[in-house]
Amino acid sequence: MIETIARVRGVNSENILPGGGSSDLIFRSLRHWLGPESHALILDPTYGEYAHVLERVVGCTVDRLPLSRRDHYAVDLDRLAAALRDGYDLVVLVNPNSPTGAHLPREALESLLTGVPAMTRVWVDETYVEYAGPGESLERFAARSENVVVCKSMSKVYALSGARVAYLCAGAHQLEALRAITPPWVVSLPAQLAAVRALQDPDYYAARYAETKNLPREVRRATCLARRASRTGHSQFHSRPPAHEWAGRRDCGPPLPDAKPVPARCGFDGDANGNPRRAHRGQGRGDERAHGPDISGSVEERDLNRRKQREQRFD
Ligand SMILES: Cc1ncc(COP(=O)(O)O)c(C=O)c1O
Repeated sequence: MIETIARVRGVNSENILPGGGSSDLIFRSLRHWLGPESHALILDPTYGEYAHVLERVVGCTVDRLPLSRRDHYAVDLDRLAAALRDGYDLVVLVNPNSPTGAHLPREALESLLTGVPAMTRVWVDETYVEYAGPGESLERFAARSENVVVCKSMSKVYALSGARVAYLCAGAHQLEALRAITPPWVVSLPAQLAAVRALQDPDYYAARYAETKNLPREVRRATCLARRASRTGHSQFHSRPPAHEWAGRRDCGPPLPDAKPVPARCGFDGDANGNPRRAHRGQGRGDERAHGPDISGSVEERDLNRRKQREQRFD
C-alpha cells in the first residue's frame, strides 16, 4: 500500500507513513511532537478533533485564527502569514477547511509556507482536497519541505471510512520518530487491499467528485421546485409539476428532467413547503446535532431504520 500511495502521489516510500484513519495519525503524531508546554494554532471553525486532541489529550495552549461568516470563512493570507511567524510549535490548516469548505489554492499556500520558520511544524489536513480540483494537493511540496506535513484521510473521498486508512506525507526526517512508534499492520490487510484498489481507479473517483460538487446545486434547485410546487397546489415534495409550469422559471435554472431522485439521493425528506422534516443520511452524531435526534417510532423501528440506512450507504 505504501508503494502504491508513493507511486500515485509522485513521492518516495520513505515520505509516507500509514495510519488507521487520520484520527489515529492525529492522536499519535500530536501526542508525540507536542507537550503541555507547546503552543498550537488552529483555524476557527475547523474540524473539532484538533481542538480536542491539542487541548484535552496533549494539554497544550491553543490559539485560534477566527474566520468570519461575513467573509464566507475565507482565510486571510496576510493574517495567516503573520501568525505563521509567531513561533508556534504547530499550525493546523484543514484545506479545504471543514466545516466551511473554504479552500486556499495550492500555489498561494506553498509560497506562504516556504517562509515559515523551521521550528514551526505545519500540518495540512487534505481530507477533502480532491473536491477543490486536481493538482491541489501539497503532498509533493511536503515531501521536499523541512516542516510541512500533509495528513490524508482515505475515509471521505475514497468512501473507505470503515476500513480506516490514512497516511502522512512529509520529509523522511519528520516521519522517522513516528515510524518507530507505529505498530506493524496499523492498517489491516483488507483495508490495504481496498486502498490500493481505490488508488488504481482515479477515473471512477473523479466522476464521483464531479457528482458531489454538483449535488448542492441540484438540491437547491429541487428545493426551489418543491416550494413552487407547493404554491401551485402540487403539495408533495416528490411530485413533479406539469411541464407548462416549468416554462419561464428562470429563478430555478433550466428544469431538471425529474426532481424526484435528487432529494431521495440526499436522504432529504421535506414537508409541503420544501422544508426538511428529517435528514436520514447524515454522519451520525453531527447529523443529530444539526437536525435533532430521530425520535419517531419505537426504539426497535429506529434501530431497524438506522441499520437499513447504513446498509444503503455501503451499497
Ligand atoms: C477534516 C477531517 N480530518 C480528519 C477526519 C478524520 O478522518 P478519519 O476517518 O481518517 O479518521 C475527518 C473526519 O470527518 C475530517 O473531516
